[in-house]
Amino acid sequence: MTISLNLLRHLLDGKFHSGERLGSLLGVSRSAIWKGLQGLKDQGVTIHAVRGRGYRIPHALELLEQDLIMEGLRPLTATVSFRMEVLLDIDSTNTYLRQTVPLGSNDVVACLAERQTQGRGRRGRQWVSPFAQNLYLSISYPLAVPLEALGGLSLSMGVAVNTALQEAGLSSAGLKWPNDVYWQQQKLAGILIEIDGESSGPCRAVVGVGINFDMRDADTAAIDQVWTDLVRAMASEGREPPSRNSLAGIVLRCLVQGLETFEKNGFSAVHDEWKRWDLCDGRPVMLRIASQEIVGLGRGVDEHGALLLETEGAIRSYHAGEVSLRLCP
Ligand code: BTN
Repeated sequence: MTISLNLLRHLLDGKFHSGERLGSLLGVSRSAIWKGLQGLKDQGVTIHAVRGRGYRIPHALELLEQDLIMEGLRPLTATVSFRMEVLLDIDSTNTYLRQTVPLGSNDVVACLAERQTQGRGRRGRQWVSPFAQNLYLSISYPLAVPLEALGGLSLSMGVAVNTALQEAGLSSAGLKWPNDVYWQQQKLAGILIEIDGESSGPCRAVVGVGINFDMRDADTAAIDQVWTDLVRAMASEGREPPSRNSLAGIVLRCLVQGLETFEKNGFSAVHDEWKRWDLCDGRPVMLRIASQEIVGLGRGVDEHGALLLETEGAIRSYHAGEVSLRLCP
């Protein structure tokens, strides 16, 4: 991949570059350039080749760079044992961390990838993860919390991601229980949390976050829900989006801070923020539990993060994991 990666760095501006010039810049033959371009195509990078003009990628791209991401994290890395891996290509950043970080390790480990070949969403769904257009990242975090106290973790992580998006300049995103981030009724980000461990032993959470950043329409046919991305949302709010690297740093910092807060004080520490961003409160929603559908009025969440739903004058609570939820139009 080294030639391909060096080649890609010369193509990031989205302009045409001749094979001859690329060869002389990298000090390799034109056939090595051709092989490098094939390698990029295998990674899911679209390459346009035009006779007499050369090669280009269809849009300028910013690659993830560890040093730039670390800048957004700096206040934090002094206090926790933190390390990060930035990968070009992986099946799923969640799966990777669960396979490579031993249970019982005290390290907080983050993994970001430019592309996921088997990105996973909640409830067994696929998470469409094309090359270098969005953010796909996960954190493995050792949790000194009994398994039964983990109820509000999903919601706390939703609050952390929305806090990061606000810090990055987006003003009007909201949260759909348990932790989907929506902007004007379109999904902007999703979170997949996987817990490893046993009630009596060490326990860790792998928190995976996908944020649609600058999704190109050609890649979106497989997405089965209404979506938007940060570039579009911020353009509608009349703002400039942050760079992908700076957003990644902010998101990682907010996640680690959110995990620390959750470990100390549980979901109740961010209950007020949740209320501020809750898209279900006071609105008709539909819950699906196995094959049963229940329509009711959202009544916020309790101190453990369970959804409160009013049906026929009574309010009942529902826990994440048991149910899926849709906002009614
Ligand atoms: C959802 O369904 O809303 C959750 C989507 C979570 C996607 C992220 S992308 C990084 C991490 N790796 C995965 O395979 N999934 C999560």
